[in-house]
Formats: sequence, structure tokens, C-alpha cells
Amino acid sequence: MNNQLIDSQGRHFPYLRLSITDMCNYSCQYCLPDGYQCDTRKDYLSITEIHHLITAFAALGTWKIRLTGGEPTLRRDLTDIIKTIKSIPGIRQIAMTTNGYKLKQRVSGWVDAGLTHLNASVDTLDPRLFNSLTGHDRLTEILEGIDHALTLPLKKIKLNAVLLKKVNSHLFREYARLLKNKKLSMRFIELMQTGDNYEYFKKYHVSAQVLKNFLLSEGWSEKLKDIGSGPALEYIHPEYEGSFGVISPYSKDFCKSCNRLRVSSTGDFHLCLFGEQGYSIRHLLQHSSQQEELQSRLCQLLNKKNDKHFLHDGNTGITPHLASVGG
Ligand code: 5AD
Repeated sequence: MNNQLIDSQGRHFPYLRLSITDMCNYSCQYCLPDGYQCDTRKDYLSITEIHHLITAFAALGTWKIRLTGGEPTLRRDLTDIIKTIKSIPGIRQIAMTTNGYKLKQRVSGWVDAGLTHLNASVDTLDPRLFNSLTGHDRLTEILEGIDHALTLPLKKIKLNAVLLKKVNSHLFREYARLLKNKKLSMRFIELMQTGDNYEYFKKYHVSAQVLKNFLLSEGWSEKLKDIGSGPALEYIHPEYEGSFGVISPYSKDFCKSCNRLRVSSTGDFHLCLFGEQGYSIRHLLQHSSQQEELQSRLCQLLNKKNDKHFLHDGNTGITPHLASVGG
């Protein structure tokens, strides 16, 4: 049996993004403008199912897990999920992407449990705009949480901002100021079209090239990528402790360095954020005796991975918004 996750393009997948809930308590304009709509109670993967899942991925060469959502911190058993993943041989990094809710109070518990990398969303540095963009007046609190996180033994802390025309695309200098003395990576993600956000996308999408141009004109330089790193570009500057990151999913060859796979909070395996379907593997997560079958199913499904997404054609696959699969 092939015991590594390698696809037909020769891409390796050391990185799994696992959504642990699709619920979110924020209503970001580009994602869930009307808030999370709870139709029926969903049955999210249990800790035992997560254990079986990650054990299989680790056996196939995956060593980095990112917990996503929805908002992952809404799971009451989050700390136990982190501990469980940490106990699995082969897992070297446990990252989480959060909207920063209650970060200050909770982050040290997550780090004690085994969290190594943290991403928090900060789409604007203006508290009032933050409120109107997310539905929560919590910017100051989140920035305090980040400052607290900086004192903990985390390997890397990133701030995520979705790049939005005339919302934050003209304020890079303010972000740079934040990076002067803080070891943070400020990561801008080019707005992606999803099934639900077409009008918003048309109005606010701007190419990440504007940020790249700004950075190059201000003396930032592109850092050479580590082998096996994903599609993000990293920019550094000798006078700044922090760095900028740029994710431009519409750029040429973006998918060539794809190194990630996704599993949804109900156990569907997704080969691409913008793919057509997920493949349920939940029935194979019920018992440790199913490991061999689970691993060979994952390898077999990986053969279906496309070489690239079709976002340029406005084809967003089945993704209504990123909370559904876990951006
Ligand atoms: N385009 C780009 N980024 C998005 N995110 C959510 N929706 C979109 C979108 N349509 C971001 C979140 C979070 C990260 C996981 O994805 O703000 O930072």
C-alpha cells in the first residue's frame, strides 16, 4: 500500500485543516453577513473520531493540523481535542484559526494542551469599522489577547485580514506600524468568491498585487520559501520584527504549491476548498481496527484531486461560504 499522501501531480500533503464545527458567533460581511443559520443540530465529529482520523493522516505523512470552523473555540471540548491530537505520534504542529473571541482568557489553556501556532482574524485596525464588519465591538479585546499570546511559548502567531477594497487596502502602513516591534505575521488573504457572496465580492475584491507593490516599494523583500511550504508568500524587512504574508488564490500557479487537505466538522474529506463535493469518511472513523481501510480510502480519494481550482471562471464549487468547510 502507498503509505504517503502524494497526488497525481506529485504534490505532498503534510497539512490537514480540520473543521470542528461550522457554527460561528460572528457575522462577517464577506462570510456570514446574517450570522450563522442554525437549521438542525449537527452531529460534529467526536474526540474518538478525531483521534482515529488524525492517526490515519499521521500514518500517511501528515504532521501539521490546523483546527478551523466555523469558529473552533465554540467547541466546549476544544482543549481536550488539542490534547488528543498532541498525543498522536508524528504530529509536530497544532495550529488554530480563530476570530479571537475570549482569546485573552483562554489562550494559555490551549497552549498548555499543545497548541503551537495561532491565527486570529483582524480585518481592520479601526474599532468602529471592526464592529460593522464583524458585528462585534471586540477589536481592543482581541488585540489584548494577541499581546498576551505573544508572551506564551507559541511558535508563530499570525493575524489574518481579508483584503478588502477601500476598507483595508489603503491602510498597509498602519499594519506595518503594528509589526515594528511585535513578532507577528500579518497575513492578507485576497477575497475569494464563494457561492453566497457574489455582490460583496464584486464590490470589494482587489488583487493582492496592490499589497505586493506597496511592500516592494517600502523595502520589504520576499522571503525564500521553505521546502514544502504552502501557497502563502512571506515578506520581511530588516527594521521590522514582524512580517507580512500574502495569499493570492487568483495568482498564476497558486495551486501548484497546494499542500493541504480538509475534513469538515461532520467527517467529509475535501480535496479542495472550491471542489465539487466532499467524500464522507465518517463510517471509517468508528474503530481503531478500521485504520488500514481508512488510510487506503484516503489515498484512493486523493487521486481525484484536481490540479487547480476554477475560481477564475466564477466556479466556486459547493462552498456557500468558508464557514461551511473551514477556510
Ligand atoms: N475570502 C477570503 N478569506 C476569507 N475568510 C473567510 N471568508 C473568506 C473569503 N471569502 C477568511 C477568514 C479567516 C480565514 C480562515 O479565512 O477571515 O481569516
